[in-house]
Amino acid sequence: MALKGVLNADAGKGTINRNLYGHFSEHLGRCIYEGIWVGEDSDIPHTNGIRNDVVKALKQIKIPVLRWPGGCFADEYHWMDGIGPKETRKRMINTHWGGVVENNHFGTHEFLELCRQLECEPYINGNVGSGTVREMSEWVEYLTFGGESPMSELRKRNGQEQPWAVTYFGVGNENWGCGGNMRPEYYADLYRQYQTYIRNYDGNRIHRIACGANSNDYNWTEVLMRQAAPFMDSLTLHYYTLPTDNWQDKGNATGFGEVEWFSTLKQALKMDELITRHSTIMDKYDPERRIGLIVDEWGTWYNVEPGTVPGFLYQQNTMRDALVTGVTLNIFHEHNERVRMANIAQMVNVLQAVILTEGEKLLLTPTYHVFDLYKVHQDAERLDLTLEAGSYTLDGQELPAVTATASRDGEGKLHISLCHLNPNAAATVELDLRGLAGSSMTASGITLKGNSIDAHNTFEQPEAVKPEPFADFELLNGKLTVTLPPMSVTALELSPN
Ligand code: AHR
Repeated sequence: MALKGVLNADAGKGTINRNLYGHFSEHLGRCIYEGIWVGEDSDIPHTNGIRNDVVKALKQIKIPVLRWPGGCFADEYHWMDGIGPKETRKRMINTHWGGVVENNHFGTHEFLELCRQLECEPYINGNVGSGTVREMSEWVEYLTFGGESPMSELRKRNGQEQPWAVTYFGVGNENWGCGGNMRPEYYADLYRQYQTYIRNYDGNRIHRIACGANSNDYNWTEVLMRQAAPFMDSLTLHYYTLPTDNWQDKGNATGFGEVEWFSTLKQALKMDELITRHSTIMDKYDPERRIGLIVDEWGTWYNVEPGTVPGFLYQQNTMRDALVTGVTLNIFHEHNERVRMANIAQMVNVLQAVILTEGEKLLLTPTYHVFDLYKVHQDAERLDLTLEAGSYTLDGQELPAVTATASRDGEGKLHISLCHLNPNAAATVELDLRGLAGSSMTASGITLKGNSIDAHNTFEQPEAVKPEPFADFELLNGKLTVTLPPMSVTALELSPN
């Protein structure tokens, strides 16, 4: 039996902020070093030390904003260690992530060069846990002040005459944990103090981001909003999807069974409840919704790949990750009034990466392909879509079989994205298209599917999972009937004739 739904093409539900498609890059494992930065002397093709293949792939998915330098690393990062001649930059220990030597060759200038090449906005995360108010204040001066000042002169001496345009600035990361083990009351006071000295220079307006809660720590949000709401532009939320609740044995990225497939998707769908409940608290203190909720770390977290350094968090990426991505982006769209940015963790070679590299080789993961299929929704108007979710059951437990989202882009094209969670059978969806005032449309489709629940790409077979043209639909008399393959993410485009 078909799942029935209605798409009200004339009922806009607000803009889907392109920053929901943001990414996160930390000095962790092989994300920055090797994944992005290979250095000016590398044989791997690069521009100013940054890999050309990675930049090309990321530009294709239009990454809008990139968070850096952490993560836990942010609260032990002292930005002045990462400026000036590379040979004199301090070598430090990356205590959080594998205890390896960090040579600081990738610093402020290199990060902003990366953003320039990617044509994306920088989101810089400052250090509260082990830094000082002065250090954070001077970083913002170094970045954004054009006139005469000690930091501006230092920047010029380091080769950057003009200040950069930096909007997004985070005041600490996970200060309830690796960022200082603080109580919310204490952090809220520190936040108020630190942000005071983040100045808006020369018309550059900093969007001040306060460190928010871990998962379902609603008390953190309550206290931050009560004590510091007038001083922030956004508050963050971190939530990772694990197949189990056991951080010691999270489950493997490949070679899992349907039980883990099911439990992972169930955990991913919790994002909806988390956002709803944190937003409800924010509504109490900020009914106008001036303050954004930024989910600046999300994604799957599994056991590391066998034989790799545990502290490097390197994991494979399968069709399961593709579905996690699709259902999560659908949830973000639903909450577009409050959720203004999200940053998947992490961009290359760490956790739910869109790109994996091995020396000079590169592969695009199933997660990458979903970002590619969904990029059409960036800055589009979300449309009212109601759809029977159906049910996908396993061992007496139930999940929605299908979740979906729809938008209209600037050219008037409609985009409908459908995630089908059931790996065992196809599903038919019947959508009534309303509000199109008799205009005739042409439809086209593309789908990402796998022939097993852990279908993935390897360096030997980098294109085992990739999007393919999709034609299993019919558009007739204002009704769109689609047959979704098992475990698939499908994108349909309807263009006015
Ligand atoms: O993304 C990996 C780590 O997860 C980040 O450094 C930290 O903020 C979070 O706990």
